[in-house]
Amino acid sequence: MKYFIHLFVLLCLAHEISAVGVSINKNTNNFKLTTNVNNTISLHCEVFNNIGNETLIWYREKSQVDIKPENSVNSSYVCISPATHKDDGVKFTCLLQSNNTIKVTAVLDIKFSPMLSGDDNVTVEVGKTAELTCNFYANPLADMFWRKNGNIIPMVKSRYTQYLTSDSLKLSISNADKSDGGIYTCLARTSMEEVTRDFILVVEDRKDVLPIEAIAAAVVVGALIILFGMFARREKILKHCMKTRERSFQQTE
Ligand SMILES: *[C@@H]1O[C@H](CO)[C@@H](O)[C@H](O)[C@H]1NC(C)=O
Ligand SMILES: *[C@@H]1O[C@H](CO)[C@@H](O)[C@H](O)[C@H]1NC(C)=O
Repeated sequence: MKYFIHLFVLLCLAHEISAVGVSINKNTNNFKLTTNVNNTISLHCEVFNNIGNETLIWYREKSQVDIKPENSVNSSYVCISPATHKDDGVKFTCLLQSNNTIKVTAVLDIKFSPMLSGDDNVTVEVGKTAELTCNFYANPLADMFWRKNGNIIPMVKSRYTQYLTSDSLKLSISNADKSDGGIYTCLARTSMEEVTRDFILVVEDRKDVLPIEAIAAAVVVGALIILFGMFARREKILKHCMKTRERSFQQTE
């Protein structure tokens, strides 16, 4: 019985050792490859325990990577130079052409400075709601804040509301008054650094709603009606032309 168990264990080990496998940068299991933006990433895939030549294939997410044939037998290199923020989270998989269940995946984890964007010039009328939206994109994750004149915005004012999603920090100021105007700073803070983006809010006097806007609207509607009329007619004219052409074609036949 003892011998039997020993033999069984040995057989299992032998099987483990002899099974064909692939590795990327010596990792035989899927792994995360962390590096900073702008660095060069070199991925080296190797087959092991193979008997003959094995052809390796690379995938970047769902699409196959173009590699030279001489860079595919038993061992293959893929180079990402330089790594950009767009490579963050991207999966590179190396697999055997002869058996695509034998594979290993590297998930890229690219660290970069927070990137902030958004409409940074917002104008609103007195009494309306002003909305500032700061879109962010960061790895590592950033803590997000709004500041005005260097100070964290006082939340005591009930007119101020902040909304945080996975990719934006919004500041909504209801019933805007002139004193709300100014420079608002969106701030992203990671363990490494702070990045800011300024947003300018202009609160202007109410415009005269009538009559200029009403007249403008009427003019636009009028123009549209005329335009649509012209298009409809043009189509008719074209159709007519085509018909006459067909007819003349038949006549010449
Ligand atoms: C691939 O590996 C096998 C097994 O080790 C070996 O016999 C073969 O010569 C290798 N081929 C190349 C091109 O290195
Ligand atoms: C592919 O490899 C797996 C895991 O080693 C194995 O179980 C399977 O039989 C192989 N398939 C073929 C077609 O060789």
